[in-house]
Amino acid sequence: MKSVSQDAFGGPEVLRTMETPRPVPLAGEVLIRMAATSVNPVDTKIRSGAVRHLGEPPFTLGFDVAGTIVEVGAEVVAFEPGDAVFGMVAGRTGTYSEYVVARADSVAPRPRRVSELQAAALPTAGSTAWQALRLAGLSDGERILIHAGAGGVGHLAVQLATLRGARVLATARAANHDFLRELGAEEVIDYQSVDFEKIVTDVDVVLDLVGGSYGSRSLRVLRPDGRYVTAQGSDAGDDPRCRRVTGRPSTDDLCALADLVGEGLLRVHIDRVMSLTEIAEAHRLSESGRTRGKLVLVPWR
Ligand SMILES: NC(=O)c1ccc[n+]([C@@H]2O[C@H](COP(=O)([O-])OP(=O)(O)OC[C@H]3O[C@@H](n4cnc5c(N)ncnc54)[C@H](OP(=O)(O)O)[C@@H]3O)[C@@H](O)[C@H]2O)c1
Repeated sequence: MKSVSQDAFGGPEVLRTMETPRPVPLAGEVLIRMAATSVNPVDTKIRSGAVRHLGEPPFTLGFDVAGTIVEVGAEVVAFEPGDAVFGMVAGRTGTYSEYVVARADSVAPRPRRVSELQAAALPTAGSTAWQALRLAGLSDGERILIHAGAGGVGHLAVQLATLRGARVLATARAANHDFLRELGAEEVIDYQSVDFEKIVTDVDVVLDLVGGSYGSRSLRVLRPDGRYVTAQGSDAGDDPRCRRVTGRPSTDDLCALADLVGEGLLRVHIDRVMSLTEIAEAHRLSESGRTRGKLVLVPWR
């Protein structure tokens, strides 16, 4: 089968389409024919060697998948061949591939009203946003500041926080302000012209999707009993208000997210759909830090 793989760490040019063996699902796993996947920033960090989640190359990147089950491993009772599914793959094979193996408990049925493209955009970004707000214990009427509100995780977090009845403030370039207001943000801050800590005070929750110095700066705008949740390394240190989120695959969370999309309550914004033949360009776009919503990838064409 075809996969985009790499045999060395490096720039986007190390990504090459190669023939690799089609994986066989083990007990508890399903084999999915991939219809769409998406780019997450961690993919580019693993590709370059900045993050070593997959060990040494060769390996195939990619965590998100939407497609059709073609085979199930022993002990899998929830799915059968022909099922339309989507999910988040933690490990044995990457999703930039014609066929993908996933643990059955890390995928979910794809509702008819959710397209394959939407479903491929949702798993990592949606689960991270969902689990971050749960970790923050965000509740009705609270104020939350979301950094990088226009990105893959951020644009979903803005909507999920709004659905929980929170009042949302978000940081973004001016070009993304109308987009974020449409998604429910009450106040949008242009981080390129204003230091957010000079105009924001006393928020209940900060969701930090930028990291670095945004950690200590965010703590200054947080209530003494507030919660700071970060998905990125930051300088928030061991402040007792600081919590770190790692998006984890969960069938229940994926089902909840897909239901919201299917009901028209959660919008998955797709910046661009690209083919896996354009993977190097897709990684360059992701690394520009300027994509709005998600970059979705479809098989070679
Ligand atoms: N821990 C986990 O499990 C986990 C899971 C998912 C993601 N993450 C991490 O969370 C971060 C966000 O992920 P993502 O998928 O949302 O990334 P993304 O889609 O690539 O984010 C792009 C967005 O970042 C915004 N941005 C860039 N610099 C900014 C700044 N200084 N202030 C405010 N906004 C800024 C850009 O908006 P503008 O164009 O408006 O600047 C752009 O829309 C990444 O670092 C990723 O690695 C962690």
